[in-house]
Amino acid sequence: MYKFKGRDILSIKDFSKEEILYILRLASKFEKKVNPNLLKGKIVATLFYEPSTRTHQSFSSAAQRLGAGVIGFDNINVTSIKKGESFEDTLRIMANLSDVIVIRHPKPGSADLAAKTVSIPVINAGDGPNNHPSQTLLDLFTMQKIFKRLDNLKIAMVGDMKHYRTFHGQILGLGKFSNNKIYGICPKGLEMPDEFKNENYQDLVINMKNLDEILATLKPDVVSVGRIPREYIKGNSKKYSFRITIETVKKLPKHTIIMHPLPRIDELDTEVDEYPNAIYFQQAKNGLYIREVLLALVL
Ligand code: NCD
Repeated sequence: MYKFKGRDILSIKDFSKEEILYILRLASKFEKKVNPNLLKGKIVATLFYEPSTRTHQSFSSAAQRLGAGVIGFDNINVTSIKKGESFEDTLRIMANLSDVIVIRHPKPGSADLAAKTVSIPVINAGDGPNNHPSQTLLDLFTMQKIFKRLDNLKIAMVGDMKHYRTFHGQILGLGKFSNNKIYGICPKGLEMPDEFKNENYQDLVINMKNLDEILATLKPDVVSVGRIPREYIKGNSKKYSFRITIETVKKLPKHTIIMHPLPRIDELDTEVDEYPNAIYFQQAKNGLYIREVLLALVL
């Protein structure tokens, strides 16, 4: 059997293909059946040093649906961090009060540092542009539900390959499976850093005005869209803008699904929401079951 109890969840890299499939199988079970007493008496601490809606609230909802209590913060200005308390001391205190820590922080490596500092399990809910493993698992869960496989898929990721952790996770996660082809469609300057590339991946640096034609030619199974993350880009991020519209989608094969981790800003037109294969709201909901499973497994 797999060993998850007490384990840190820092990167999708740390999981084998079999472990990933096991998590997805459990997520399907949790989706069908609520387990309201599974984590009774446990406390989940959510430490959000960076804004979040879905990830924070779905970890909190997941914990409470399983019977756990939730403590934490989403605004460091109301904590002693504001007085100058160190990262490590904050972590030590929160670990005294809880059974698992879920942390989001703008600095890459911060979840690893948290895991080294405390003895309870740490779940990385996003460390800057680096990793966001629960997002990767919910993305894989979503693809698996639709295609009944995680092999032989063609994925076109569209946006900022350089800074967007969702894309980094998708490459690493799909890299565990066979024969997936991933294209990172991006404007010049936002190419994929070498550390995330593997043999499944190829950058397609384009003038984003030609996006519709490029996608229509690629005929991907998945179009995975992401916003341009202004907070990580020095200078004017507007020059990188693009927009997926209903016209873009109409030129794609019938089976192509549109994914987005959300939030969207202006890169994905709301008209696309009506399209039957626009599955981003479903995708976000899948995050609840994945996060229930992760909390249950590490506890
Ligand atoms: C993403 C994130 O924070 O990485 N959001 C999320 O967790 N669903 C994507 C983003 O910030 O744009």
